[in-house]
Amino acid sequence: MESSDTSPVTLDVDFVRDQFPAFAHPETSRWAHLENAGGSYMPRQVIDRFTDLLSFHKTQPNWDYAPSRRATEAIEQSRAAMAATFNADPDEIHFGPSTTQNTYVLARSMRHGWADGDEVVVTNQDHEANIGAWRSLAETGIVIREWSVDPHTGLLDLDDLEPLINDRTRLVAVTHASNVAATVNPVREVADLVHAVSGVVVVDGVSYAPHAPVDVRSLDCDVYLYSAYKTFGPHLGMMYTRRSLLESLHHEGHWFNEPKLSTRLTPAGPDHVEIGASGGVVDYYEAIHRHHFGEGGGATDPVDRIGEVFALFAAHEQRLMKPLIEFLTDRDGVTIVGSKSVDHSVRAPTVAFHSEKVSSADMYRALIAAEVSCGHGHFYARRLVEALGLDPEDGVVRLSLVHYNTPTDIDRAISTLNQVL
Ligand SMILES: Cc1ncc(COP(=O)(O)O)c(C=O)c1O
Repeated sequence: MESSDTSPVTLDVDFVRDQFPAFAHPETSRWAHLENAGGSYMPRQVIDRFTDLLSFHKTQPNWDYAPSRRATEAIEQSRAAMAATFNADPDEIHFGPSTTQNTYVLARSMRHGWADGDEVVVTNQDHEANIGAWRSLAETGIVIREWSVDPHTGLLDLDDLEPLINDRTRLVAVTHASNVAATVNPVREVADLVHAVSGVVVVDGVSYAPHAPVDVRSLDCDVYLYSAYKTFGPHLGMMYTRRSLLESLHHEGHWFNEPKLSTRLTPAGPDHVEIGASGGVVDYYEAIHRHHFGEGGGATDPVDRIGEVFALFAAHEQRLMKPLIEFLTDRDGVTIVGSKSVDHSVRAPTVAFHSEKVSSADMYRALIAAEVSCGHGHFYARRLVEALGLDPEDGVVRLSLVHYNTPTDIDRAISTLNQVL
C-alpha cells in the first residue's frame, strides 16, 4: 500500500496481523486480545532475532570470536535502534529486567545525592512501579508528598501539583498515561514546574509507549521508562536517563565499569539475548513503514519514520476506541475511569470501567467466556482504584487495545457487555 497525495494512508491491519504468529495460531487467533496493557504479542521480526541469537549466538558478548562478535553486534544494534524509540542517544538508554526494577535501582542511586528532609512528589494515579520505590525513601529521611487524583474522575490536575513543589523538591514521579485512567498527563508542563526548582522528572511511559511515539527531548523529562514486553518486544524494562543527570548519578554497577554510562544503572548482567532481540521491534516498525510508504518513501530520519508508523497506529486505534467508549458512556450506571474523550491525543485506548449493577468479576467472566482476553481488579494501580472508592480486588474491568486489534474484536466485547449490563 503506497502513500498518495489524494488519499491519506490508513493502516493495513491484515498486513499487520500477518507479522504476528499469534494470529495464525489455532488457539490464540480465536481470542479478541484486549489485555495488551498487560502484555502484547511479538511480531516475527523480534521472534526471528530471538531464534537466531538463541540458536547460534548465545555466548558471552564482547570477545573476538565470531559468535561472540555477532552477540555484541546485536546488542549494539538494538541499543541504537531502541534509542530512536525515545529520540535519545544510545548511551542514554538502559536495559533492565523490568520497569519496576529500573525505578528501584534509580531511586537507590538518586538518594546518594540528596539530604535528609529533601522532598519527592509521587501521584496516586501511577502504577506502583513508579510510586513504591520513591515512597520507600521515606525510611531514609526523604519527605514524600502526594499529588492526588480527583476521586470522581481519577484524573490529576496540574493546579494541585504547584503547591507541592518548593525548593526542597528533588523529584516528581508521574505517569505519562496511567494503565487504568489512560489519560495523557501534561508532562512538559510538569517538567517546566519541576525544573524551575532544579528538580528532576521521572515519567512512567509504560502505558503510553505502545500507542504514540516518545520524544524525551520535547517532553524535556529527565527519565522516561517503558516496558518492551508491552510494546511488541521482549521482557525488558527500557529506561532513558538524560546524559547530564546520568553523569551526576551514583554508579550502581560494578565499580570498574564506572566510566561506562550504559552500565551505571545496571547492577546485574543484563539478558543479552533479550536485548539483542529487542531491536526487532524497530525492524517491525520499518516493515510497516515500507509497506505503507514504499521503499525509500516517507521520512528518512529513523525517529521520524517511527513517528509516521505511530500516526497510522493512532488513527486506527482511535477508530476502534470510539465505539467502545461511546457504548460504555451510554450505559446506565457504568463509569469509565479517566477521560471519556475518544481523541487519541487525549487518552490511550486502555478503557477501564466499573458498573453500579454488575460486579467487575462478573463482566470479566462473561468476556472471557466470549473469548475476549481481559482482566479485572486494580492492575497494580491499587492506590488509584482505592481513591475511586472501589474494592481493589473487584476493581475495574480493563479492555486495552493496540493497533493489531480489529473492529471484530471490539464488536465482540461490546455485544458481550451489552448482554450483561
Ligand atoms: C503503567 C505501568 N507502569 C509500570 C508497570 C510495571 O512494569 P514492569 O512489569 O516492567 O515492572 C506496568 C505494568 O503493568 C504498567 O502498566
